[in-house]
Amino acid sequence: MEGITDPSFRRLILDGSESGAIGGACTEFLRVTQQPLKTEVLHRALGRRPQSQVPVGVQLMGNDPWAMAETARRAADTEAAFVDLNFGCPAPRVFQHGAGSALLDRPSDLARLVEAIVTASPLPVTVKIRSGVNDDRLLETVLAGIEAAGACLVTVHARLKIESYQMPAKWRRLARAVAATNLPIIGNGGLERPEDLEAMGRATGVAGFMIGRAALRNPWIFDQSLAYRQNRSQPQPDLADHARWLARYASAMENSGASPRQALGRLKQAARYQSAQGLAELADRLPTAMRCQDRDDFFRTLGLWEAVPSGEGEGRDSPH
Ligand SMILES: Cc1cc2nc3c(=O)[nH]c(=O)nc-3n(C[C@H](O)[C@H](O)[C@H](O)COP(=O)(O)O)c2cc1C
Repeated sequence: MEGITDPSFRRLILDGSESGAIGGACTEFLRVTQQPLKTEVLHRALGRRPQSQVPVGVQLMGNDPWAMAETARRAADTEAAFVDLNFGCPAPRVFQHGAGSALLDRPSDLARLVEAIVTASPLPVTVKIRSGVNDDRLLETVLAGIEAAGACLVTVHARLKIESYQMPAKWRRLARAVAATNLPIIGNGGLERPEDLEAMGRATGVAGFMIGRAALRNPWIFDQSLAYRQNRSQPQPDLADHARWLARYASAMENSGASPRQALGRLKQAARYQSAQGLAELADRLPTAMRCQDRDDFFRTLGLWEAVPSGEGEGRDSPH
């Protein structure tokens, strides 16, 4: 998720989750304008390879067929397992430039773009869409174009562009998407708890699930969902588990070249998300912690210092 997650976050989740809990992941969107992105940019976005065998793709967003296709071709020179195309972003600066969700109103242009990328790149191409811009009338048309263009999977966010992130996701759009195409549909939008995955699957017939913000609040949601599906007891992280997770995240960022300042900013953001769930009891201390200038001070202010093992870093087997 652009501006929030990064390769360290992804690696912590992928390497810390049980085998089978996660089927795939991709980078935050990379904006492609008139020039293709350099291979180094793709390498940087992918970051250090996780130990996990889960396929990780690069996500591209743009509307220039040549620049997008050439970037997708270059992605084959990296460790990317697939190329994902973002037609869901509602950000005004993206939308005004005719990229992201703007293409949902121009299904033929969207399909031509996908086709150019599929033709250029030896990697599998997947697509992420919202259900429409102002309404969902073009959903089936958009999906038919994507299928004909040769993409191999579509993730559908069950909200419109104008519904942003807060309006309830309408899962019946996912059932429509499943009925409209032979491609596997991954359902996205409003998955908060393991039970929600089962409910979405039952209501819509989607082939899989994409979890967005819930993973920021609760990095254990993938393991919990797997355990729920297998009728096992779910991991129940406590405050110390959250503290250790945050400490590992901070170390991972610093070890991958983030400056202490950047790492602290991301750490605060992660703590803010986790304060909605596992760190809820610390909500009172968070405003003061947000003003801390270094990470040790941050953990002390939150009262989490004791829980952070000395030398906490990337070397341990599991972040969980
Ligand atoms: C701040 C923010 C950044 C996001 N960045 C991306 C992104 O880079 N690529 C993407 O496919 N989706 C991105 N999303 C959308 C999420 O992946 C997801 O589709 C959306 O939040 C709905 O799922 P949820 O209800 O499970 O969060 C972003 C969402 C937020 C809130």
